[in-house]
Amino acid sequence: MGKYRINGLRRLEGTLQVQGSKNAALPILAAALLVPESTVHNCPELSDVEAAVHILEELGCRCHREGGSVTVTAGECLNSSIPEALMREMRSSVVFLGAMIARCGRARISLPGGCELGPRPIDMHLSGLQKLGVTVLDDRGYLDCRAANGLHGARIALPFPSVGATENIMIAASVAKGMTEIHNAAREPEISNLADFLNAAGARVQIALDGTVYVEGVPKLHACEYAVIPDRIAAATYLCAAAATGSRLQLAGINPIHLTACIPLYEEAGCTLRMEKNSLELYAPASLKALRMVRTMPYPGFPTDAQAPFMAMCCLAKGTSVFVENIFENRYKHAGELSRMGAQIKLEGRVAVVEGAARLHGARVECTDLRGGAALVIAALAAEGETVIDEIRHLERGYEALERNLCALGADIKKLENGEDFC
Ligand code: UD1
Repeated sequence: MGKYRINGLRRLEGTLQVQGSKNAALPILAAALLVPESTVHNCPELSDVEAAVHILEELGCRCHREGGSVTVTAGECLNSSIPEALMREMRSSVVFLGAMIARCGRARISLPGGCELGPRPIDMHLSGLQKLGVTVLDDRGYLDCRAANGLHGARIALPFPSVGATENIMIAASVAKGMTEIHNAAREPEISNLADFLNAAGARVQIALDGTVYVEGVPKLHACEYAVIPDRIAAATYLCAAAATGSRLQLAGINPIHLTACIPLYEEAGCTLRMEKNSLELYAPASLKALRMVRTMPYPGFPTDAQAPFMAMCCLAKGTSVFVENIFENRYKHAGELSRMGAQIKLEGRVAVVEGAARLHGARVECTDLRGGAALVIAALAAEGETVIDEIRHLERGYEALERNLCALGADIKKLENGEDFC
């Protein structure tokens, strides 16, 4: 099992090219199942992306990675089920459901269980697909989904703007007969990125100003090339690391508009930001100020995925910061690990209250989940002494070349495997 060893209190300095977005790449790779040949550029090298490629191969596609580009050749539909081991490897494999049904007329997957963030139901994915003509059978822990008479357009109103449900419905609807409307659809940038990929392959997807997604089904999609957007959560994470360590950091190759909900919070903490079209520079103050209230919301609100990195930043901010987690039930597991490093955090249901400490100290901690792990890295970079972070496999799901990037910016971080140094 890999670990990181971090010696804190080093300033970061320099420019970082931000990776492609994991959460945009995954649904695009799922949609690639419907495209004869697609090349997806700016695909980050992550274990979750590898898992998506394994699923495509299992389903009969040929996949070839060259640098940041993955070319998927969707062959015959050899298989319409995802083995349980692959489903477990990546929770978001449920995003393959719509594409598999559209491609093969059938999909059999094991029911995704709970995950590190609490229960992850898929009722909205299923009821949306049912509206498109899919029958769903729960067969002893497996879901057997069929579209015996093909897929047809429908008017769907989501009870909550679920990102995954919106993506699954959009993908299936792109080749359904007729028009689909998705009301109260998610509005995350990853949704527009998926729409643009589908449209590059000949689909007819439009997103209205109020966020409603209109999909006019086409008989089939054609070959295309497309680039994944930059990862706004990785960007927010690196900015939190810079803020917590009193550093100056420039991020290149990002879209600052995707960070609209985060930017005022860095400013509230006392940071100065300079923005250009595709880059953003952050200058941290000598000491950070607390954030009065951080509420996670669907986009364009503050992203739940950035909650843990911001919490790590607030552990050293002067005053009391309050977090309200509105998206997931169990998303404060990192708080206990941060406390081992001297953070003062009180939890009460959806609320976390962080009393800024004068300093954090190194400790032995464990990643509880992807973004919680990122919070530990940030805290360790800003802490006195040595921190060892266990279970970094969670981080490898979402952060490309994390230790290499941080080393290049001046951090003292080493990856240890079986007791050996690898940096
Ligand atoms: C995606 C992101 C994840 C991010 C989340 C919210 C990917 C691969 N993952 O996850 O990083 O944290 O959006 O921005 O893109 N829900 C239901 N029933 C459903 C679907 C969702 O109750 O059928 C609930 C979930 O339990 C959760 C909330 O809705 O409480 C939001 O989930 P959703 O937007 O679907 O998140 P994901 O697509 O799973």
